[in-house]
Amino acid sequence: MSTAPTLADWMAAVQHRTEHALAAALPSPALAPRRLHEAMRYAVLGGGKRVRPLLAHAAGELTGGAPEDVDRVACAVELIHAYSLVHDDLPCMDDDVLRRGKPTVHVEYDEATALLVGDALQTLAFQVLAERPLRQAPGVQLEMLAQLAAASGSRGMAGGQAIDLASVGRKLGREELEFMHVHKTGALIRAAVLLGARTGPALEETALERLDHYAKIVGLLFQVVDDILDAEADTATLGKTAGKDADNDKPTYVSLLGLSEARRLAEDMLCEAKASLQGFGPRALRLGQLADYVVHRAF
Ligand code: IPE
Ligand code: IPE
Ligand code: MG
Ligand code: MG
Ligand code: MG
Repeated sequence: MSTAPTLADWMAAVQHRTEHALAAALPSPALAPRRLHEAMRYAVLGGGKRVRPLLAHAAGELTGGAPEDVDRVACAVELIHAYSLVHDDLPCMDDDVLRRGKPTVHVEYDEATALLVGDALQTLAFQVLAERPLRQAPGVQLEMLAQLAAASGSRGMAGGQAIDLASVGRKLGREELEFMHVHKTGALIRAAVLLGARTGPALEETALERLDHYAKIVGLLFQVVDDILDAEADTATLGKTAGKDADNDKPTYVSLLGLSEARRLAEDMLCEAKASLQGFGPRALRLGQLADYVVHRAF
């Protein structure tokens, strides 16, 4: 009987294939405009945990999607994520100088370049998902593109970022904070799971609802833990400036609940996420393991 690779080995393999797919999707730095292409590659390659690609592949394993198709989804979502980080770090947003252990794009290059890197990564994401047929019917591919657009735009990530900026210095209630986190971070994570699953045969309705519930919880959970790590971990471990939320006077789960209550909430949400995978059996192995990873990661 063959045993499944350890989570660490499975993650390393997905991270490796994602790195290759991203490197192939990004324009060569030898092409004009060279500085922009170089900065795009700087923003995307050689760093990041690749959590969204990992979730997409885990969901693809659940439905039996072709790994090559999941790579396209994984790249598209990761490109949107990388763009969101470049813009998130700009002086007009969180004003951060360190990302993934390196100077942020506007520090290494300049602000205008960082703006354009974000613009170009965003459109590249849709190009990657649209430019060749997937194994699924063209209508499904079109729906996937619409789903990614919705998750990224004003009713998704960008909208969440707007709420985040409007909330500086304010004390949000639990519901408002959840609404912000579900949008700024949850939407893209949810899309990674649902689009990864969509590369395989459609799930029946109740199974899809359970997967979607898992995806929503893990998306929110990811930002709850990001808030905790910002308060708890150090800059060297995080590869980004620790304590930035308090410095910027941002409402977070830590400012609302305190560290130990936020940790307890994260563990409760983890149980709920894993419970919604019950019934899927071994096909959901990686999704369950990744929920644990999201909560217990060090950075
Ligand atoms: C950081 O995301 C920003 C949030 C949405 C919380 P990640 O923690 O996934 O960042 P990388 O991709 O690993 O650098
Ligand atoms: C970022 O949230 C969410 C995004 C959409 C990029 P944060 O501002 O908390 O992310 P970090 O902590 O800078 O990575
Ligand atoms: Mg931010
Ligand atoms: Mg930030
Ligand atoms: Mg943060």
